[in-house]
Amino acid sequence: MTKHKQIFKSPGKTSKCITIVLSGLVIVSVLVIKLVSGMDMVQKMHLGVTLVVPVFLMNRLLTRRFGYSITAVCVLLAVFFSGPVDKLVPVYVLIILVQVIVLLLITYLAQEDRRKYEKMKQYSLSLPDPTVQEEHFKMEVVDALLKAIDAKDSYTYNHSKRVASYCRKLALISGLDTDKADKIYLAGMLHDIGKIGMKDSILNKSERLSDMEYIEAKEHVVTGAKIAENMDILKEIVPIMLHHHERYDGNGYPEHLKGEDIPVGSRIIAICDSFDAMTSDREYRKGMSAEQAATKLMECIGTQYDPHLCLLFVESIRNNAITVISI
Ligand SMILES: [Fe+2]
Repeated sequence: MTKHKQIFKSPGKTSKCITIVLSGLVIVSVLVIKLVSGMDMVQKMHLGVTLVVPVFLMNRLLTRRFGYSITAVCVLLAVFFSGPVDKLVPVYVLIILVQVIVLLLITYLAQEDRRKYEKMKQYSLSLPDPTVQEEHFKMEVVDALLKAIDAKDSYTYNHSKRVASYCRKLALISGLDTDKADKIYLAGMLHDIGKIGMKDSILNKSERLSDMEYIEAKEHVVTGAKIAENMDILKEIVPIMLHHHERYDGNGYPEHLKGEDIPVGSRIIAICDSFDAMTSDREYRKGMSAEQAATKLMECIGTQYDPHLCLLFVESIRNNAITVISI
């Protein structure tokens, strides 16, 4: 909510205008009233104080320093330098009455202004938080995409959920902040979404893929990135998704990125993706134990996987900081 700006801004200008008009009236009244010698100073002082106090009070209430102060000074000057007190009283009483009316009017308008502000504030508070809305929408999109992959291949759906969970834990253990870890989690959920476009004969093939089939299978990273880049809310994770099959030694795909040129999220997914692929059961084979898979990861440390992240992951598996998920 932006800082409250007063809708009703006229009191300042209004009070200045009234001050000028009233001051003019006072000066005119001073000029037209015949000066009488032998003024009663005591009476004038009493009258001056009596008339000026309410003016200063109004000034205080409205925090309009100059407008009412000028009026007060004019009143004092007029009282002391003009004619008989009895002729001046009606003029000053009129001035005070006008000022009281103005005070009431300004107070009323200020209250109206405050009421409008409170109404606007309540209305804005009743609206859903845009950040929460966007997050909710993002999760709905992710859910819809995952349902689409689930309909095509339930293994990939469950695999993606497990990979995402490992990724988030490894990201946090490696010292990344929660915001970054959440992005990597999301990329982990969607890293294989491009398999929607893959032929079932390739996707479900238990034997080794032919060279042509392998080339076609590799396309899933580009297909997935294309799906995500069309959605504003997923654009930031596109590079992580695109490069999750790069290798640390530069022999991966699609762009043969090497070492730390590969986004850290992709390096994390590469490790978690392999670990889950090795430990999960398939129709045609049983999954390895966590220790067997950890040993396999260590065999490819520095070649396929980021050495620091791979070591961290393997240690976390061995000391149960990351536990194997079986869903
Ligand atoms: Fe993949």
